[in-house]
Amino acid sequence: MPMGRVLAMLLLLAARAGVPCATAGVTSPYRRSLQMLPDMPLDADVFRPPPGFNAPEQVHITLGDQTGRAMIVSWVTPEHAGSNVVRYGLSAHHLTFTAEGTVQRYTFGPSYKSGYIHHATLTDLEYGTRYLYRIGFGYAVRTFSFKTPPKPGPDVPFKFGLIGDLGQTYHSNDTLTHYEASNADAVLFIGDLSYADNYPQHDNNRWDSWGRFTERVVAYQPWIWTTGNHELDFVPEIGETEPFKPFRNRYPTPFAASGSTQPHWYSVRMASAHVIVLSSYSAYGKYTPQWAWLKAELARVDRSVTPWLVVCVHSPWYNSNDYHYMEGETMRVQFEQWLVDARADLVLAGHVHSYERTHRVSNVAYDVANGKATPVLNGSAPAYVNIGDGGNIEGLADKFRWPQPDYSAFREASFGHATLEIMNRTHALYQWHRNDDGVKVVADEAWFTNRHFLPTDTN
Ligand SMILES: [Fe+2]
Repeated sequence: MPMGRVLAMLLLLAARAGVPCATAGVTSPYRRSLQMLPDMPLDADVFRPPPGFNAPEQVHITLGDQTGRAMIVSWVTPEHAGSNVVRYGLSAHHLTFTAEGTVQRYTFGPSYKSGYIHHATLTDLEYGTRYLYRIGFGYAVRTFSFKTPPKPGPDVPFKFGLIGDLGQTYHSNDTLTHYEASNADAVLFIGDLSYADNYPQHDNNRWDSWGRFTERVVAYQPWIWTTGNHELDFVPEIGETEPFKPFRNRYPTPFAASGSTQPHWYSVRMASAHVIVLSSYSAYGKYTPQWAWLKAELARVDRSVTPWLVVCVHSPWYNSNDYHYMEGETMRVQFEQWLVDARADLVLAGHVHSYERTHRVSNVAYDVANGKATPVLNGSAPAYVNIGDGGNIEGLADKFRWPQPDYSAFREASFGHATLEIMNRTHALYQWHRNDDGVKVVADEAWFTNRHFLPTDTN
């Protein structure tokens, strides 16, 4: 066992021996330049199209079913539709399977027309297996690979990357580079992808550049997409009144496999985790489709197979930063009791361009008349992580509220990413990495114990 892991386990044992975990929160004294960096220019090397006429670009994959025995491969051909077939198999010389995809284009505003956007679903995959896949035609053939997640089971280890609000600045590039060094298996992406909407008429060329920028990772491992406000692209003044139009054309999700009716809320089951993705920007009031789906979905969670219940939602329910303060409050009021009752382990949010981790906390006693509207430490409740620190063009959210609330365990206005490494049914190691440090430096760390199998443990 590596020395770092041994130390972490010793700290965990100390905590379990009675050292209280719900100590006063820490506001990191770490200081850095708050200089806001612009997006990388369109001729930056990370945006360079691949060589060859009509070469497939912006390649990315996500799960094609709930558990990873199917994978959706998406790509764009810029000049014409070209081949719509994915060949795949266990080695480059035996790409014996084929998947026929769909192809579509969309327009945005008066001047943008997308390339040819392809989506093909690779099926009948084996769990925990590396596949190679090939797309393109003629001189512009490209080959990639991915490993399917292991078969779901209570003690199957798995390492998630946690990234939110990434954008396409130099900071974004740092975040992606640091994440690449983490050796994680998949990313839970917590919303706000390209930030193309910061440009006049939401210049969708910035959706294309973001697709080329992130390909170096997301073509090789599945990213699970949460919808953020920067995916809305609602611009009635230029005739764009269909919310989420670029996102829905470019980034499919396996929503139907979990009984959802919209791509913005759904679930996947990977290794020992049941991951629920919610949409802050779709209706969630009582009786709405998302409300009805979540109610049914929580009843489907089987902790004996997937012990870890993780929820992704863009707008945070607990956040002690001035930016976007209380924007997630109505959704918290709607759903928090359900997550406490379900003993959810972790709620991941973004939106606030800063980092924060809370203790296990709830605020569910309030009934309008009783005055009990204060968050309290609650061992049955999830911990909350705000990971909206991917590094986008809007800069850092550096104005924290004072005093630091009791529920806030650690907060810092830095860009970075986190990982959640599930060890078994009882323990998961969570680590946050700020971009300003070396790729192996951990700036915040916590061991989470499972709320189902260790319900009274203090971590
Ligand atoms: Fe956001």
